[in-house]
Amino acid sequence: MSLTNYRALGRSGLVVSPLCLGTMTFGAGDWGADEAGSRAIFDAYRDAGGNFVDTADIYAGGLSEEFVGKFIKDTGSRDEIVLATKFGFNGSRNPLAGNQPQTGNAHAGGAGAKNIHRALEASLRRVGTDYIDLYWMHIWDGVTPVEEIVQTLGDLVRAGKIRHYAFSDMPAWLAMKAATIATERRVPGPIAMQVEYSLVARDVEAEHVPAAREGGMGIMPWSPLGGGFLTGKYKREDTSGTGRLSGANPFGDSKFSDRNWEILDVLKEVAAEQGLLPAQIALAWVMAQRGVVSTLIGARSLSQLTGNVAATEVKLTGDQANRLDQISALAGGFSANLTSPMIRRMVYGGHDVKGWG
Ligand SMILES: NC(=O)c1ccc[n+]([C@@H]2O[C@H](COP(=O)([O-])OP(=O)(O)OC[C@H]3O[C@@H](n4cnc5c(N)ncnc54)[C@H](OP(=O)(O)O)[C@@H]3O)[C@@H](O)[C@H]2O)c1
Repeated sequence: MSLTNYRALGRSGLVVSPLCLGTMTFGAGDWGADEAGSRAIFDAYRDAGGNFVDTADIYAGGLSEEFVGKFIKDTGSRDEIVLATKFGFNGSRNPLAGNQPQTGNAHAGGAGAKNIHRALEASLRRVGTDYIDLYWMHIWDGVTPVEEIVQTLGDLVRAGKIRHYAFSDMPAWLAMKAATIATERRVPGPIAMQVEYSLVARDVEAEHVPAAREGGMGIMPWSPLGGGFLTGKYKREDTSGTGRLSGANPFGDSKFSDRNWEILDVLKEVAAEQGLLPAQIALAWVMAQRGVVSTLIGARSLSQLTGNVAATEVKLTGDQANRLDQISALAGGFSANLTSPMIRRMVYGGHDVKGWG
C-alpha cells in the first residue's frame, strides 16, 4: 500500500489517500512546527503521493489554515489536494482557559447556521480559496438540531462553497440521524466520521463503526498514536521531557494508565519482531480496522512524518494482529457486544451467520 492507493471516502466520489496529513501541529508553538518545518512536512507528504490535508479554524488560532493555504498556492496543487477544514470550537475565547472566568462571542462556535456561515467565510479567507472539499463539524455542540445542521451544510454544498461535509466528535446516533434525514430528503448527507481511534482508544467500535457503515460514512481516526504515547518514547517510570504528552501541555497525561502501558508492551514486542518502530505498527493496526478509510497522521518534524508514512507498507501477521486486538480490547457491557459472534450464535442456533458487507 502507498499514499497513492486512493479510495473513496464514504459513499462519495471524494478520492483520498489512506493517510491524511493532520496539521494541528502547524504553527502550534511548543509542541508544533514553525512555517519552514510545516512546509517540509507538507512537501514530504505530497512527494509520497498524499492528496488529503486536514486543518481546522481553531488550530494555532488560524495559523494552520494560513500555512496550508500558502503551501497549496506555492505548489499550485489546489486541484489535486482534498482540503478539509473544520468549524465548531469557539475561537473568540482561549480554548485552554479552562474554568477561568473568561467569555467570548457565543456565536463564534457551535453548529448553528449563524456560526457555520461565519466560520466558513473566515476559513475561506485564511486559506485563500473559494471552496473547501470537505467541511467538518469539529464537535457537536449538544444544542443545534440535526435538521438545522443538515440544512445548512447541504445548502453550502449546493452553493458550491463546500464539496462535501462530515462530522467529527459526535454521538453515533447524531451522524446516523443526519445520514437518514439526508437520504429521505434526497439532499447531501455526511460522508465521514472523524473520531479518536487507536490501540488505546477503541470505544468507537461499539456504536460509531457500525453506524458509519450503515450510513455510508468512512471512518477517519485521529490521534492514531495516542498523541505520541504509542511511539514508545515515554517510559513508565519517567514520562517527562520527551514530547507533547510530557510536562506542561494542553493534552494532559491521561494516556499514562496501567492498561495503556500493558498495550504498549505488546506493541513493542510486535515492533521488535517486525524490526520496525512501534508507531508504524500502531498505524498499521488502525488502518486495518473495519470501516477505516483514511487515518490522520500528525507530526512535529519531518523525520516523524517519513517514519509514519512508511507504515503504509507494514503487514501484520494474523498472530500479531490477534495479540494487539486482545490486549487492547475493551470489555464493554451487554449493549456494546450486541453484534459479537457469541450473541450471533445464540440467535442462529449455533451457526456463524455472516451479514452482508
Ligand atoms: N477531530 C478532532 O477532535 C481531532 C483531535 C485531535 C487531532 N485531530 C487531527 O488528527 C491529526 C493527528 O492527531 P495527533 O497529532 O493527535 O496524532 P498522533 O499521531 O496520535 O500524535 C502525533 C504526535 O505524536 C508525536 N509523534 C508522531 N509521530 C512520531 C514518531 N514517529 N516518533 C515520535 N513521536 C511521534 C508528535 O508529538 P511530539 O513530538 O510533540 O511528542 C506528534 O505531534 C491532527 O493533526 C488533527 O488534524 C483531530
